[in-house]
Amino acid sequence: MNVLLAGGAGYIGSHTAVELLNSGHDVVIADNYSNSCPEAVRRVEELTGKTVRVYEADVRDHDAVRRIFTENKIDCVIHFAGLKAVGESVEKPVMYYRNNIDTTLTLLECMAEAGVKRIVFSSSATVYGEENEPPYTEEMPRGTCSNPYGWTKAMMEQILEDAAHADPALSVILLRYFNPIGAHASGRIGEDPQGIPNNLMPYVSQVAVGRRDHLTVFGDDYPTPDGTGLRDYIHVVDLAIGHVKAVEYAENHTGAEVFNLGTGTPYSVLEIVNTFRETNQIDVPYEIGPRRAGDLPSSYADAKKAEKILGWKAERNLADMCRDTWKWQSGNPMGYREG
Ligand code: NAD
Ligand code: UFG
Repeated sequence: MNVLLAGGAGYIGSHTAVELLNSGHDVVIADNYSNSCPEAVRRVEELTGKTVRVYEADVRDHDAVRRIFTENKIDCVIHFAGLKAVGESVEKPVMYYRNNIDTTLTLLECMAEAGVKRIVFSSSATVYGEENEPPYTEEMPRGTCSNPYGWTKAMMEQILEDAAHADPALSVILLRYFNPIGAHASGRIGEDPQGIPNNLMPYVSQVAVGRRDHLTVFGDDYPTPDGTGLRDYIHVVDLAIGHVKAVEYAENHTGAEVFNLGTGTPYSVLEIVNTFRETNQIDVPYEIGPRRAGDLPSSYADAKKAEKILGWKAERNLADMCRDTWKWQSGNPMGYREG
């Protein structure tokens, strides 16, 4: 299939591009580089030996998206294009609603004009909210989100479900990611956050490489075995392969369907720090700090549906995630800026 990756120069998009190309699919990328850079796409081409057609475009821009659909016969869209920093979304909610909802509406409108019938969407475990208890299953109702970023994901799921309801020929696959970490095993592509990282693994790896002094562990008084938060960390390459399976499933599918993409196994913050240290033989100094507002004690998937229906299961373990993160971070201490 010929797949349009909206936001495809980003962390998950670039890894998905590699796996799609390696599986024999063609890829077109549209990205405004608001949180990424062209070097990531160049490295996708280097890793796969294939050429990727890239458009520097804002996916909210109808004319730009129309042009992509006119110049390429697109079989399926994967919609990664979104702003994703939870804290920033609390400070700038309108910017988050404008960017995330508008990209979705523009893509749906342009898909309808061009007769494109398949869309795979980057959703998040955050839509389970506070009401549901892990392990989360796909049939649980969406809960109350603790920040505007989460609400954009819940709203976009609703918009996409309504679109699928109105057009019986449409296939909508909602992928609820848990906590993607790690990097391509080559160390050539990986996560390159701008400024101070919000998420645990990029923070740990920046401490290890000497860019940050120490990690602050956000709370050790949660009702968990060691008191620190539990999350379902998933290797980004496993996640990327999940997208290949979703795109292939969408080929003969209509309606809207949700899949969790997680491992089903939760690890604590201290387990991440200790596995990173042991796997990479490098110190990660940390201090225990207060809880971060809005954090849940525990979040992890019931991952059975994706295995049963998509034939997909995460294969890489926590040591693989820590090793590949370090290969990327140690080889690219300042991210893509040195490349
Ligand atoms: P990322 O920021 O690396 O990638 C998103 C890409 O979208 C970037 O390249 C950015 O430049 C682009 N983009 C943003 N707005 C755009 C616009 N208006 N037009 C064109 N391009 C635009 O983030 P990621 O980690 O790769 O996440 C991809 C998607 O998955 C996002 O929608 C994110 O919310 C979702 N998600 C991520 C996580 C995670 O922990 N990384 C978890 C759950 C869901
Ligand atoms: N943590 C720390 N110190 C840090 C950063 C994180 O102790 O410097 C802890 C958090 O308290 C949490 C765990 O590490 O217990 C994971 O935190 P992340 O920020 O890496 O991930 P979250 O689970 O908080 O957030 C992720 C995504 C969001 C998404 C959310 C729910 O980043 O986009 O999952 O799905 F909304």
